[in-house]
Amino acid sequence: MALTQGGSTRDGWSSRSAFILAAIGSAVGLGNLWRFPAEAGANGGGAFVLFYIGCVLLIGLPILLSETLIGRHGQASAPESVRRVASASKASPMWAMLANIGVLAAFLIVSFYCVVGGWVLYYVGVFVVDIFQSGLTGGAFAGQDPKAVEALLPAMFANPSLMIGLFVLFLAITVFFVARGVSSGIEVVATWMMPAFFVLLIAITIYGAFGGAFGQTIDFLFTFEPERLTGPVMLAALGQAFFSLSLGMAGMITYGSYVGRNVNLGSTSGIIASADTFVALLAGLCLFPIVFAAGLEANAGPGLMFQTLPHAFQDMPAGALIGFLFFLMIGFAALTSSVALLEVPTAWVVEKFRIVRPVSTALVAFCALFLGVLAALSFNVLADFHPLDFIPLFAGQGVFDVLDGITAKLLVPIGAILVSIFVGWVADRQLVDMENGLSGVLHFVWLMLVRFVCPIALIAILIVGIFPSLSQ
Ligand code: TRP
Repeated sequence: MALTQGGSTRDGWSSRSAFILAAIGSAVGLGNLWRFPAEAGANGGGAFVLFYIGCVLLIGLPILLSETLIGRHGQASAPESVRRVASASKASPMWAMLANIGVLAAFLIVSFYCVVGGWVLYYVGVFVVDIFQSGLTGGAFAGQDPKAVEALLPAMFANPSLMIGLFVLFLAITVFFVARGVSSGIEVVATWMMPAFFVLLIAITIYGAFGGAFGQTIDFLFTFEPERLTGPVMLAALGQAFFSLSLGMAGMITYGSYVGRNVNLGSTSGIIASADTFVALLAGLCLFPIVFAAGLEANAGPGLMFQTLPHAFQDMPAGALIGFLFFLMIGFAALTSSVALLEVPTAWVVEKFRIVRPVSTALVAFCALFLGVLAALSFNVLADFHPLDFIPLFAGQGVFDVLDGITAKLLVPIGAILVSIFVGWVADRQLVDMENGLSGVLHFVWLMLVRFVCPIALIAILIVGIFPSLSQ
């Protein structure tokens, strides 16, 4: 693939495949491995999963293309990219607000995302210790009761300083790569870690397919029960689709801004969305057989990956080693996403305040540190602190869940509605047609989706999600 340059003085991806891997790295992360199975389990399986796939195809994919094309045309931070497209289209510079919402969302997400990244580091550590205790050949946690393995997560939650330490460590690793820049930091992580990640995930899924309750899993994930498709389930599926594809929060605008002119954005968007959905489904197919075979509940929520997955390694040959490798891979996937998240506000600070990249990265991370500590503490000492108790959508939720909810259920859908209206109706048609790399029927379908389906579906889902009583 020909080498491309993101801009004359601006850093950029070194090739098309570097962009594809980095964008897949951004999309594939804890959202697929941890959040998707947890959400699918909590929202009843099949209805959620199928609606999710529909959201990816009909809404996520068109928005993904819209975001990358804004970025590629703008060749600047997300808000500046939107402003440039707006000015080329003789539209109001106020449209840049849509990207400012995104920058805010990415900042909020990175703070709690790195908290979960810290949990992954904890499990990497747990398995390293276990390699010495259980040995290399037998299963992990030799001689331990499965309940004791599950108790590892609550034990970590009960230790605030450990949680904060792990969070800070994960954030620091993220800062290290973002500070080094696009082609020599961000891209390096993705091109090394993503291929290794795929190999391990497929291997563990195949193992699970032979050992666990695979048939029950297929039933659970793919049986469509229409009565389960309520407003909140639809909003959860939509929020998850956007979270997983890194959309609605300026992430793909930012990554798109480092893409060279000769890359076809239509086909690359298709590759990115397919890879992301593939990994989410694979994560479900990998986790639920273990859950069902162990007689555990599918709706265990956040604990699913951390508490049930380790069961699989208990009776697997070389379980401790494989468990270690697996959590290491999850850590890699999480890192390629946290790097992408931190890049969004960082690129904006670099450009807006003209501060050199390493300092900008540190500044943004310092602010995220504050929120992240609150999020980490919401699992222990601040468990009863519910900052938005007066808003029904967030009542009874701690800081972690509030940050997740505000972004996935409000900021991201609103950002996406604005993107679709902007690209579908406001932006100059010629500009859009030149950037999108589509022709013929595909182009027509994409335009119809961006113009009509996306805004209407997004507004409808947002409303029934926020006011569930309307859908009854
Ligand atoms: N998609 C990432 C994941 O699935 C998380 C994420 C959400 C993200 N929004 C983002 C990553 C924006 C980069 C940019 O884990």
